[in-house]
Amino acid sequence: MNHALPDTAPGFDQPIAVLKHCHDRIRKQLDTLSRLPDHLAAHGPDQPARQAAQAVVKYFDQAAPLHHADEEDNLVPMLHTVATGDDAATLAALVPGILQDHDAMDAMWQSLHEQLAAIAAGNAATLDADLAATFAARYSEHMVLEETHIAPMAKRLFSPAQMAQLGAAMQQRRGIVADGPATGDAVAALRKDYGRATLDAADVAADPFVQFNTWFEQALAAKVNEPNAMSVATVDAGGKPSSRIVLIKQYDQRGFTWYTNHDSQKGRQLAANPHAALLFFWPELERQVRIEGAVEPTSAQESDTYFNSRPLKSRLAAIASIQSAPIASRAALEQNFAAAEAQYGEAPPRPDHWGGFRLVPERIEFWQGRRSRFHDRIVYTRQPDGSWTTQRLQP
Ligand SMILES: Cc1cc2nc3c(=O)[nH]c(=O)nc-3n(C[C@H](O)[C@H](O)[C@H](O)COP(=O)(O)O)c2cc1C
Repeated sequence: MNHALPDTAPGFDQPIAVLKHCHDRIRKQLDTLSRLPDHLAAHGPDQPARQAAQAVVKYFDQAAPLHHADEEDNLVPMLHTVATGDDAATLAALVPGILQDHDAMDAMWQSLHEQLAAIAAGNAATLDADLAATFAARYSEHMVLEETHIAPMAKRLFSPAQMAQLGAAMQQRRGIVADGPATGDAVAALRKDYGRATLDAADVAADPFVQFNTWFEQALAAKVNEPNAMSVATVDAGGKPSSRIVLIKQYDQRGFTWYTNHDSQKGRQLAANPHAALLFFWPELERQVRIEGAVEPTSAQESDTYFNSRPLKSRLAAIASIQSAPIASRAALEQNFAAAEAQYGEAPPRPDHWGGFRLVPERIEFWQGRRSRFHDRIVYTRQPDGSWTTQRLQP
């Protein structure tokens, strides 16, 4: 009888066991990968094949880069600080090969990723079996080498405090908050590799608004947290910048629109200098969009239409708040709200100083995170005749 045991992962207080556990999971994914070409030949990209491809992509896109970073940025540097004599000689002999393996496996993965993502989407029926086998073989040998030489050395040489330090760095890399405040080192150790998608000039729309719409809809479909939140950066009359988050309410060929109090800090800054920059960050898709241009107020009619679509309490709040001005207490703020409610009841009018701002873009950059910080960047620049040109920028 086969009683399958749950896949219980060791805790980060045992970082070497966590690394071994990662190896076991890599072996499982490599096994799936190795069986996939034959399965595809027999059954095509059926549901099990698509699921298998998706699982392999997910693992090697997300978990494997973290594992490599654990080794490259923490385990190996820490071993270098404690190893002496034969241990130091072993490290000197093995580490260059280990790092070369990581690079070679990363390069092979780029190609496998493309193929597997197409299979997962049901758009392809074949996988390069030779490449999959080479990838699996290189990984397997690599893991045996680490388990034979590197892991035992770490267990032998690291003090309990060093084990705790390694575990904490690995934990923080995965965004798991350890007890106690994060140190500067811990923040620096946060490292996530991106490999979800690619971006090429040939793939993007000629019109940046069309491209923005595609990405925005993909952000909605991916259920990104607050997909409509964007940072707005402005500068004051003296050139000093400030930024804040607002919610985009409309975008079309005219520009990108949000609503606010025109007497606020941002409103006053924009009156003095209309140039501003917007930024969307969609971490779940490893994407950012940077938009720069001059800002103009929306028409009174547009502002009315949007104001009147807001819930009653939000309309009253817009009247009650002199946005960005100091106030003595929360109680004073509540009093101002009650006064607005008493005065206007169910039909508060839009204050003249409240309305939309539309940024008319001159430059829009689409950024897609790629492996090893070698990201894709495509920037659109508006030409004097209103047309757009695109260029690739270095990461
Ligand atoms: C998620 C989020 C959405 C926000 N949306 C808006 C908005 O649409 N309009 C707005 O005026 N402020 C919005 N705010 C508040 C602004 O960030 C900021 O505090 C306010 O506009 C005052 O900025 P200022 O003093 O620089 O003018 C939002 C804040 C967050 C965190």
